[in-house]
Amino acid sequence: MSDWIDFYDFKHSVIYVNARHRDVHYRIIAEDIRAYVPSQTAHVLDYGCGEATSADLIVAACAQLVLAEAAPNVRASLTMRYPGHPKIAVVTAEQVAALPKASFDLIVMHSVAQYLTTAELDRLLTMVRALLKPGGLFVLGDIVPPHLAAPAAALALLRFGAANGFFWAAAFGLVRITASDYLRLKKTVGLSHYTESAILERLKRSGFTAERAARNIGHNQSRMTFLCRANSR
Ligand SMILES: C[S@@+](CC[C@H](N)C(=O)[O-])C[C@H]1O[C@@H](n2cnc3c(N)ncnc32)[C@H](O)[C@@H]1O
Repeated sequence: MSDWIDFYDFKHSVIYVNARHRDVHYRIIAEDIRAYVPSQTAHVLDYGCGEATSADLIVAACAQLVLAEAAPNVRASLTMRYPGHPKIAVVTAEQVAALPKASFDLIVMHSVAQYLTTAELDRLLTMVRALLKPGGLFVLGDIVPPHLAAPAAALALLRFGAANGFFWAAAFGLVRITASDYLRLKKTVGLSHYTESAILERLKRSGFTAERAARNIGHNQSRMTFLCRANSR
């Protein structure tokens, strides 16, 4: 398991300053993803979905939702949250890779690319391209630009907290994160950042035609979302 997967498997309290933050975070992401669902018959994959506490909002708008999560404890909590749900499947990264080609109308990968090396991202883009149905949409969200990403994320969190009733918890959360594994991993393992042109070039080389969306999924508008269609083979 990569260090970042390990981090996300256990250290939720550092990332979400409290339960309200976590739930508002996932509700907004689910609402934003739902807006990309093309039809009630759509098959949707959320790759690196995290805790997905509002997946029911997405599944109400589609036929099937596959939640793929590499972190085993997060996956276990997803399975407990949606036990035996007729339209939700919780799977590992390996299980996604083994799914039949052209399985999905919509694939979302939000806030995952920064934890991948460029080689890992390229491998995932190849997998996503194979899993998309012809004409399907791949939404690559929360791409972190190279400059001033940390202050922008801090400011976005404070604003998000102020707008949703957890400003002081967000402020304390920012102090706590300075002493957390997050910063240690950021220094040792690193995070991947991309300019708009760099990620567009990477997507192009992986066989996608892509454009930047008008707004990012979620609360941090200094990051970027890209709407990608696979070129025909
Ligand atoms: C910030 S969370 C994003 C969760 C959710 N998509 C969201 O936007 O809140 C990052 C996710 O990336 C996943 N992740 C990190 N490194 C990964 C890797 N090498 N392969 C697959 N998933 C990875 C983690 O397991 C975690 O679920």
